[in-house]
Amino acid sequence: MEIRLEHLSKIFVDKTGRETRAVDNMDLVIPSGKLVGLLGPSGCGKTTTLFMIAGLHKPTHGKIFFGDDDVTKLSSDKRGIGLVFQNYALYPHMTVRQNIMFPLENLKIEYNEAVARVNEMAKLVGIEDQLDKKPAQLSGGQQQRVAIARALVKKPRVLLLDEPLSNLDARLRLQTREEIKRIQKETGITTIFVTHDQEEAMSISDEIVVMNFGVEQQKDVPQKVYTNPHNLFVAKFLGNPPINVLRGEIKSNQLFIQGVLIGDKIAKDGLYDVGLRPEDFKIDEKVGIAVEHPEVEITGRDTLIRFMIGDTQIRALVDSETYSTANQIRLTVRSNKIHLFDIESGDVIR
Ligand SMILES: Nc1ncnc2c1ncn2[C@@H]1O[C@H](COP(=O)(O)OP(=O)(O)OP(=O)(O)O)[C@@H](O)[C@H]1O
Ligand SMILES: [Mg+2]
Repeated sequence: MEIRLEHLSKIFVDKTGRETRAVDNMDLVIPSGKLVGLLGPSGCGKTTTLFMIAGLHKPTHGKIFFGDDDVTKLSSDKRGIGLVFQNYALYPHMTVRQNIMFPLENLKIEYNEAVARVNEMAKLVGIEDQLDKKPAQLSGGQQQRVAIARALVKKPRVLLLDEPLSNLDARLRLQTREEIKRIQKETGITTIFVTHDQEEAMSISDEIVVMNFGVEQQKDVPQKVYTNPHNLFVAKFLGNPPINVLRGEIKSNQLFIQGVLIGDKIAKDGLYDVGLRPEDFKIDEKVGIAVEHPEVEITGRDTLIRFMIGDTQIRALVDSETYSTANQIRLTVRSNKIHLFDIESGDVIR
């Protein structure tokens, strides 16, 4: 089931009449059967977008379509959605089985059919041996899987997940995120996964949508968003260690930073914000930025070096072996790995 947002906006107005534009004119297509990550910093409008799709918030402007159905005015319970929140919100006094079965109670489903569905869902999320326990007797990851089973038991058209892994520790996060990916693949249900964690979004999503201030910044497969950021915000938001950003100058198709030649780059003469990913530096003994007094952190195959250009700290991730055997460390960056951004707008220069 494809989800389509057309000119979708949500403006909250507080008691004093002050407006917050939580979502601002979003046009977005979530392809059928895909897992799309909705990514952005706190307060950028992710939950508001999800809640409008879920029917929990009424849009101020715009429309929402599920396939060909305009669901904008449809109440939440008629949309056929499954929702999972950050805090699992299970009923503590009910068993796992009762929790998963709960959404079926108001439907006219035969008891035997309901039990069969609960068993099917429990198996899907891998908690079939936990059905008689109470939520408090489960780990956080297991509780979140119960929440997912409960969201799926009505066979929704769309699965909406709002930071479902935030309350889990690092190991469980990783495990549960792989589980979610598997469950999504097995069911083929169109899924939106909200997170502010770029690594999580990159690893789990077929496509990611990066948001800032209620506005979509870029939508593409994760690798493309990473290698071809459309603006400085997206470039900075993705990547760990983060992209280095420096003021640079193009003169006759060569890039200089603080007077040092970095490499060739075809662009109009002028000043730019230059983005250089740590892993895109290459060691050279003759040309490039001379690295003086670096702080060095060997992480195995890679070595992270930190050094200053003028008053800006640069992080570069280089091959440990090349680094340890080089006589003199200079760094260059290949032309196609140099990202130039307009100083005013932050938009990428192509
Ligand atoms: N019910 C509300 N009333 C007024 N303002 C709201 C309401 N809900 C959200 N907002 C505002 O709308 C903006 C977007 O909020 P939203 O919850 O969608 O952000 P988010 O991207 O989900 O952030 P987080 O990562 O912290 O969960 C914020 O500025 C927030 O303060
Ligand atoms: Mg939120």
